[in-house]
Amino acid sequence: MINIDAQNHVKGQSIYLDDIQELQGTLYALPFDATVAHAKIVSIDLEAARQSQGIVAILTAKDVPGENQIGGIIPDEPLFAEDEVHFRGMAIALIVGDSEHHCRQAAKLIKVVYDELPVIVDPREAQAKGKLIVPPRTFRLGNTTDAWAQCDHVFEGRSDVNGQEHLYIETQGAYARNKEDGSIVVSSSTQGPTAVQRTVSRVLGIPMHKIEIDTVRLGGGFGGKEDQATPWAVMVALATHLLRKPVKFSMHRMDDMRMTGKRHPYSADFKIGLSKDLKILAYEVTHYQNAGAAADLSPAVMERTLFHSTGSYFIPNVVATAYSCKTNLPPNTAFRGFGGPQGKFAMEAAIVTAADALGVDASEIQKANLFAEGDEISFGQIMTQVNASKAWDDCMATYGYADRQKAVADFNASNDRFKKGLAIQPICFGISFTNTMMNHARALVHIYYDGSVVVSTGAVEMGQGVNTKMVQIVTSIFGIHPSRVRIESTNTLRVANTSPTAASAGADLNGKALEIACKNLLARLKPVAFADADPESMQIMEEWVYKGNVKTDLSWTDLIMKAFTMRVALSENAHYATPTIHYDKTKEKGHPFAYHVYGTALVEVTVDCLRGTYDFDRIDIVHDFGQSMNTAVDNGQIEGGVVQGIGWMTLEEIVYNEQGRLLSNALSTYKVPDIYSVPKQINLKHLDTEGHELAIKKSKAVGEPPLMYGIGAYYAIRSAIMAFNPSATLAVDAPYTPEKVLMDLYKK
Ligand code: MTE
Ligand code: HPA
Ligand code: MOS
Repeated sequence: MINIDAQNHVKGQSIYLDDIQELQGTLYALPFDATVAHAKIVSIDLEAARQSQGIVAILTAKDVPGENQIGGIIPDEPLFAEDEVHFRGMAIALIVGDSEHHCRQAAKLIKVVYDELPVIVDPREAQAKGKLIVPPRTFRLGNTTDAWAQCDHVFEGRSDVNGQEHLYIETQGAYARNKEDGSIVVSSSTQGPTAVQRTVSRVLGIPMHKIEIDTVRLGGGFGGKEDQATPWAVMVALATHLLRKPVKFSMHRMDDMRMTGKRHPYSADFKIGLSKDLKILAYEVTHYQNAGAAADLSPAVMERTLFHSTGSYFIPNVVATAYSCKTNLPPNTAFRGFGGPQGKFAMEAAIVTAADALGVDASEIQKANLFAEGDEISFGQIMTQVNASKAWDDCMATYGYADRQKAVADFNASNDRFKKGLAIQPICFGISFTNTMMNHARALVHIYYDGSVVVSTGAVEMGQGVNTKMVQIVTSIFGIHPSRVRIESTNTLRVANTSPTAASAGADLNGKALEIACKNLLARLKPVAFADADPESMQIMEEWVYKGNVKTDLSWTDLIMKAFTMRVALSENAHYATPTIHYDKTKEKGHPFAYHVYGTALVEVTVDCLRGTYDFDRIDIVHDFGQSMNTAVDNGQIEGGVVQGIGWMTLEEIVYNEQGRLLSNALSTYKVPDIYSVPKQINLKHLDTEGHELAIKKSKAVGEPPLMYGIGAYYAIRSAIMAFNPSATLAVDAPYTPEKVLMDLYKK
């Protein structure tokens, strides 16, 4: 089935926030933000700005009727700065006027006097000074202290990995309107409508039932709108609440890049111990997460880093610690993989460090330690239905690794200027929100008496195709044509108390709830079809009712009208909560993931050793989709994820100066992958597997895991550099921008 949005996207007819028809009298909002990263606010002079043409109001913390607080996990983030600013881009005031242009003119007239304080941008410095978002956490398995003595080889090192700009094509934005009795409706480009609703309620000091959040779709979120769509929606809601006018805000790209958080940069120290047959016996790692100036989702991201700190590998003795370090940068946030990729990157750094020192191919260590059935992960979950080696072996066989290795060696032996590198990247990603209580969802289905169906769930469509999957669930149960099914916007009035669409679990959680709703409706329709026969023999295929395998003269529409006249309820609301999962934070043990997604990628790169530039010749993937319910959508997730992962590891470099000012603040200074930098070939094979019961229709979650194939890009480049400059000791420090590659090619 083709993506239900394909036609409208291509014709430009899909509705995003900026396409919503504006009401007459709509005002425009513009946040005014800090121009220093850490300071006491001595004074704010708004007078001239208030007199400026077209300005209706300038709101600050003093105008907040409820709590001036938007922190989700920890209440440490004011909506508007009060006495201090903690990062450049922190909102101080909201300018509201009759046009965006007038707001921008007024912004120039606001005068803030700061008393500047020391700025910290480095997580290790923050940790040394005791500036932590939450206390550190440690996951332990076995006993590393004893294990070191049994190791034949022990290596230590450090790895650093940069952040990443989400660069959703649609920037942040929201549009608020009044309803009756002080109720408000906010259209928000958010992954988490309920989070927005709750925070509007908190800041305005009015109950959640007076606030309706509506989300049609996002032009991409990638985690950047899980938490960080909230402030803008709250600001316009506040202005609407106080001014009784519709208020809209749609962010400019450079403002979005400057003011919002990104993927967390991490720095890590590791120690790895191996036996002589390359089994990893012990691993210790300490992660320093650069959280930025407020918690946002950092504690949860840090947790997932720990959950994925041993990557795809079984290690019997582990100590993994993580610090969430408070710096004067915009609060960093969710980004595809949610800290998992950073945990994995350090693990791969440890393996490569060991491989280089031992003079073996990193793949030998990787292969020898892949998770197998019954293995225990550092947090106590026992691995079942493990496809790690199956995906690895299939990838090696399908794409002829041995021959490829030889071809690369031959190429490198006969070329001076160009060198090739190969790297293998096995992935293993846990599916479920790490916070067990978030793993539930609801769906609401109405069958209208003309036979058309409307569906609401908590899932937010952001390009990942979740709505198409929802249609497939309905059509497969009702046996009707997709044109009969419409997926409504995600709306807090229709589906309440939702988790954000995140953790790759959107389709599983909402899909399972929808499946239950449809099955309940079908069960009610069966006795309507035949009063006399066994209702269980009823099935619907291609819009006709069958008794067993015999087609009756009852169509879907007849059946629905008959049910209506018999006064059978044609609406259903269902709830699903993932079974089997649990976690005990006091012990750091449990079973937090419903299942894992596996796969293996082989990356090949050619480095121009004169220029430091590189081309990805190909990436060859074997991926565990389970039983993919939509190969077009799922293959698209792999391709997009891979390219985003490669971008993170290669071209995309976020640079802040010592004063916490973002230097890579536009697309001219922040390079993302384009058609020239993507691999020349992306080969993808579906691993032949059963799928998992807890995956919707046995079709495994696919959103985040493929990003981690991109990590192979870093190590492939590194391998090519080593072929050119074998005696160099290279730091493990991503991304490998061409400048850094050039430096390493000629490093002594
Ligand atoms: N794909 C597109 N096109 N746009 C997005 O914003 N977000 C990713 C992934 N794939 C994203 C995407 C992230 S971070 C997640 S968690 C999942 O989609 C969320 O959707 P799902 O739970 O339905 O997989
Ligand atoms: N993944 C993504 N988003 C989240 C999670 C998670 O595990 N927990 C809270 N938000
Ligand atoms: Mo995705 S980072 O869980 O929104």
